[in-house]
Amino acid sequence: MSDGASTAAYGDLYQRSLRDPEGFWREAAGEIDWVTPPGRILDDDNPPFYRWYPDAVLNVCHNAVDRHVKAGRGDQAAIHYDSPVTGTKLTVTYAELLEQVRACAGGLKGLGVEPGDRVVIYLPMVPEAAVAMLACARIGAVHSVVFGGFAPQELAARIDDAAPRVVISASCGVEPNRIVPYKPFLDEAIRRSAHQPEHCVILQREQLRAEMGERDVDWAELVTGPAARAGADCVPVASTDPLYILYTSGTTGRPKGIYRDSGGYAVALLWSMRNLYDVRPGETMFTASDVGWVVGHSYIVYGPLLLGAASVLYEGKPVGTPDAGAFWRVIQEYGVVSCFTAPTAFRAIKKEDAKAELLRSYDLTGFRTLYLAGERLDPDTYEWATDVLGVPVIDNWWQTETGWPVACNPKGIELLPIKPGSPTLPVCGYDVRVLDGAGTEVAAGTEGAICIRLPMPPGTLPTLWHDDERYVASYLSAYPGYYLTGDGGYVDDDGYLFVMGRTDDVLNVAGHRLSTGAIEAALAGHEAVAECAVVGVSDQLKGQVPRALVVLKSGVDAAAEGERIRAELVERVRGEVGAVAALRRVDIVAALPKTRSGKILRKTMREIADGRTPTVPATIEDAAVLEALTPVLRGD
Ligand code: COA
Ligand code: AMP
Repeated sequence: MSDGASTAAYGDLYQRSLRDPEGFWREAAGEIDWVTPPGRILDDDNPPFYRWYPDAVLNVCHNAVDRHVKAGRGDQAAIHYDSPVTGTKLTVTYAELLEQVRACAGGLKGLGVEPGDRVVIYLPMVPEAAVAMLACARIGAVHSVVFGGFAPQELAARIDDAAPRVVISASCGVEPNRIVPYKPFLDEAIRRSAHQPEHCVILQREQLRAEMGERDVDWAELVTGPAARAGADCVPVASTDPLYILYTSGTTGRPKGIYRDSGGYAVALLWSMRNLYDVRPGETMFTASDVGWVVGHSYIVYGPLLLGAASVLYEGKPVGTPDAGAFWRVIQEYGVVSCFTAPTAFRAIKKEDAKAELLRSYDLTGFRTLYLAGERLDPDTYEWATDVLGVPVIDNWWQTETGWPVACNPKGIELLPIKPGSPTLPVCGYDVRVLDGAGTEVAAGTEGAICIRLPMPPGTLPTLWHDDERYVASYLSAYPGYYLTGDGGYVDDDGYLFVMGRTDDVLNVAGHRLSTGAIEAALAGHEAVAECAVVGVSDQLKGQVPRALVVLKSGVDAAAEGERIRAELVERVRGEVGAVAALRRVDIVAALPKTRSGKILRKTMREIADGRTPTVPATIEDAAVLEALTPVLRGD
């Protein structure tokens, strides 16, 4: 904690960002190489839709790769691939990255990929994932990375929505306890989807080779063939053109395609790298997440590379690959200055090595800051990490939709006093307000819905992919003039924000955002299930885990068949949503508690399961149902 740090310097800058957003973001845009520099900064002609840098033209790949080579950083490391699960380490310099991206981009063009076409990327944590993303950016194609832990049904939903010309995948992923065959998942997803991609590019990994079909192209051939040798140059794209679509979970089973623009995102990320994550060109950042999540897009790939820093791409876990000292080794080995991960990773390390004895074998002298996000940072984990590392531990709060932090201690500007449990103050450009049900701002210390006044800063979602209506309905209609974050919380007397959790039914399992609707759909597909509900309950390691309550169809004998059905339901969720859903517990119950209009009382059940006093709505249909469920939920 930086005792007594003055908030004036940051406070002034923050106020300026709200008072004069166009001046603020015009200045920040100066860090980017534009083909056509922005004349106009913000297009606010058509509220609630806003566009940043509406007349500017750039290429994000040029900014992330080519310009660093041109500036003489060619021999500097861009990516350190470190894979304890395969025993591989590889450093890719900026010059090498440029060569690989040029070749891949040429190969994609050879497959007919044109500006505006979509490319779905379903890859594990290998450097080819970053190369593929940048190659798409280079030729103006729009990538949509799907997390490798998602099962065929989730992948199929994304393929259908994004309608990609090409899918890039691998033969397998490597988890500590097993090889995960990706190619059969991809084939199954394409079998289930209405949209059919023209080609699938498959990276063959030696741990498990995939059988190739007619539309499949070997990655090795894609990046060495004649089209790759011809290469592809950067295509100028409008600042408002999409760089990528990233699907995220809402309450329903249908994922939301977050539209990420090009120019606003590049400006915001670069600003955040210096001012929030406190990294300088040539330094190394280690973000332990996955390229399939927004954290991976912003702070494994684009953020560090836009800055000209090095990024560690780590294919492993915080524990068990091989031990709880893995992160310390990576930090030492690559001279990491900033590490960014989810609190759950630190809870896992603490569980294995409570006294951080493994840390003693490593030299972390150059390490400056730990950043944690993705879920609430509980004060215990904060204290432990601070004690063992002796560096500032910075909670930052944001979401797929925003693309970069909404609240964060601006360490690159000045380190503000840290309050455990709070991600500190709103970040420049974000006018954060806590509102009550009527849309009135609440007093300090009072909980409400955390909202952001429009327009939000550059980098945040301008809309949903091909669905302006859903964008407005999901985020902007609850409180006109505000973006609804879906999180609840409060602001204290010093303006510090405290984020207490989702106000909707979105789950957060080990920092992974999952939809109750998707898990419920998988359960409901079982022939014996009449009705079901999924609630996220507190878990010491993963923050939250899903619990399922199912009502069986009449005539199904729960006593005789219950065990088999429960096991099948767990398997179904793994198969339909993915192993990351981590559903372990399914209870067969007589009925589900509902309101008179038929809405299942998930929040009330969640509160009971967590041992809290439940808020029972007056409109409950039958209080006896809830009473009967209470011992089941409490695990008595
Ligand atoms: N491809 C295929 N399967 C995957 C996968 C991937 N990319 N990522 C995870 N899985 C599987 C795992 O193998 C595991 O399967 P299992 O049930 O057969 O063991 C399951 O999904 C759950 O994985 P995970 O969430 O990683 O849990 P874990 O119990 O293996 O490990 C932690 C727990 C806390 C160590 C782990 O969740 C972690 O490192 N979290 C870091 C947080 C993070 O990266 N968050 C992202 C947002 S910042
Ligand atoms: P995602 O879109 O996957 O990044 O998930 C975003 C959600 O994760 C947010 O809406 C929050 O519910 C939660 N979250 C992320 N970071 C934090 C944080 N620092 N504190 C509390 N919740 C967080």
